[in-house]
Amino acid sequence: MKIAIAGYGVVGRGAHELLLKNHAAIAARLGEELTVKYVLDPKDLTGTPGEGLKAAGIGEVLADPEIGLLVEAIGGVGAAYDYVRAALESGRSVVTPNKQLIAEKGAELLALAKEKDAALLFEPAVAGGTPVLWPIAHCLAANELDLAAGILNGTTNYILTKMVAEGADFAATLADAQRLGYAEADPTADIEGIDACRKACILADLLFGRHTDPEKVFAQGITKITAGDVAAADQAGFVVKLIGQARKMPDGKVLCLVTPALIGKGHPLAAVNDVFNAVMVHGNGVGEVMFYGRGAGDLPTGSAVLGDVIEAVRTGCRYDPMMSWTDCGSDHLADRRDYAIDALCRVKEPFAGLAARFPGAACIWERDGETAALVHGVPEGELEDYLAGRAVSPYIRVFAR
Ligand code: HSE
Repeated sequence: MKIAIAGYGVVGRGAHELLLKNHAAIAARLGEELTVKYVLDPKDLTGTPGEGLKAAGIGEVLADPEIGLLVEAIGGVGAAYDYVRAALESGRSVVTPNKQLIAEKGAELLALAKEKDAALLFEPAVAGGTPVLWPIAHCLAANELDLAAGILNGTTNYILTKMVAEGADFAATLADAQRLGYAEADPTADIEGIDACRKACILADLLFGRHTDPEKVFAQGITKITAGDVAAADQAGFVVKLIGQARKMPDGKVLCLVTPALIGKGHPLAAVNDVFNAVMVHGNGVGEVMFYGRGAGDLPTGSAVLGDVIEAVRTGCRYDPMMSWTDCGSDHLADRRDYAIDALCRVKEPFAGLAARFPGAACIWERDGETAALVHGVPEGELEDYLAGRAVSPYIRVFAR
């Protein structure tokens, strides 16, 4: 099998390096050689493993009958979308770590892959090197799944960990994450929760079989979290993590969102630090399952890319109906404001005022004209409206389960 890699950045190059490093073992497992024949990237490849493999364009790659599969690691939905469509149209299989592409265009591309009976696999799109999607679709296929939630962005988890553990500066830690190859080309997508939102949407897509439009999903990042929030959370027995979730609500609607959340210190997600990701899944047979591992970086994400390539080749580069969903509108999506939450609130009023409005509230502190408290079982819309104009910083929900 000869493959082409489009996009030779952290992930594309990482996958190539890992293939060269483990070439013999992979060939032995697969029963055939796996070789990169072309690299598609405008940059100079001199001194990289891609040296001498540069293709003139996607046309050259797809005109070559030896090429059976394209790894798309360009990112975004511009050229990446065009190349993936062209590859599938030509009957080639595709593996991609591109979260944005799969979250936005997955249903359409999967329909094309089905029509052409070609593989379209995207394990590295969620949680980097950590296997999540294939085990959900295959190993847990006997379950009704009602939850997939967790830490879906390595950059923000790295920043939060360093800030809490070492009191590190936000900007310096973000620069570190960029240097280590964790962050997106535009790190706004990381810190504003957009990247995690795309991953939460892909989880929702896979769990519930329906396209979840990222534009319709509430996503909040970590930029508004303050040292005061972290201190109040700590005093109440929690850590703060950026959590993405896809959850079937009791009324059958799907709640998909990304927000900072309070995690009880004894909860397994509380111990997930640095660039690590973790996804907790709940099924009605298996109960809770958790996947944990590196969520970003060259070789870890390259490992997931190659895992998919090997899986595609092993299964004859056929469409996998277990790894798919369709677009049938957004009427399955829940409005977060309609559901009760527990949350940490910091307000510019005495605790008595908050407790009068939300009975059962528990005071964490009252000091310097500010109250920090936990409220329980409050419809989110009511809480949001009450806190408008009163809050010292945005409320932070308690992660349920
Ligand atoms: N920027 C992403 C992250 C890369 O930090 O998780 C992996 O998807």
